[in-house]
Amino acid sequence: MSAIRVEGLAKRFGDLLVLDNLSFEVKDGEILCIVGPSGCGKSTILRAIVGLDPDYEGKIYIDGELISGYNPKIGFVFQEHALFMWRTVIRNVEFGLEVKGVDKKRRKEISMDAIKLVGLEGFENCYPYELSGGMKQRASLARVLVNDPEVLLMDEPFAAVDAQTRNILQEELINLWQRTQKTIIFVTHSIDEATYLGSRIIVLEARPSKVRKIFDNPVPRPRDRTSIPCVELRREVLSVLKEVRGEVDQHS
Ligand SMILES: Nc1ncnc2c1ncn2[C@@H]1O[C@H](COP(=O)(O)OP(=O)(O)O)[C@@H](O)[C@H]1O
Ligand SMILES: [Mg+2]
Repeated sequence: MSAIRVEGLAKRFGDLLVLDNLSFEVKDGEILCIVGPSGCGKSTILRAIVGLDPDYEGKIYIDGELISGYNPKIGFVFQEHALFMWRTVIRNVEFGLEVKGVDKKRRKEISMDAIKLVGLEGFENCYPYELSGGMKQRASLARVLVNDPEVLLMDEPFAAVDAQTRNILQEELINLWQRTQKTIIFVTHSIDEATYLGSRIIVLEARPSKVRKIFDNPVPRPRDRTSIPCVELRREVLSVLKEVRGEVDQHS
């Protein structure tokens, strides 16, 4: 299992300095949640790690190994589902294996395992338009899981689903994480989500982004959102985020 180290990451888009000398570590098998003001560069960080945009300064290590470009150890789940609308769930999930040339029988087996893991058994022959928002996100996750990545990067994956479904998806993600021991970096706008999921929570500053504060999450699992330690932690994270946002408003 992998741990990630981001060292002195800097990124510009033209004149816009988005990330400046950003460093942090992801521990083996943890869920690291990243929160920060909108536009501070959270997606940019994930895109650099996964190799979608290799045009950055700084170094990114997995298992102590310097990476650049696409790395099969990493899977990326986007905010909007990335399903092919003309393929059924199982044909979507199989896609990565097809690309790798895995034979049909084995493809089906691995894909059905992933479909079961995300709770979509029985829906494998549905098309995306037949699925709810939460189910589409489950299918997107299954599509990434078939590649058996050691690290999952998730960019606000539950932002577009209703609050109740979101809580269910969070619980399911914790179950899956506990079963698979994957390392997860999870970007979210929601402090509730970050404190419910995160082993640790990083609060980023506004552009150019730096780490403002890292919280260890002491709340034992299974977590109760209404418990006093959970409420306390939400309050602390919120207060740091408010400081950061206050600074943004002063600048604008
Ligand atoms: N391809 C791009 N070209 C120009 N600017 C970009 C591009 N992608 C992101 N940006 C800018 O970089 C900043 C950070 O973007 P992003 O990482 O998406 O922020 P976040 O995910 O934290 O909301 C934003 O100001 C955004 O407008
Ligand atoms: Mg983003």
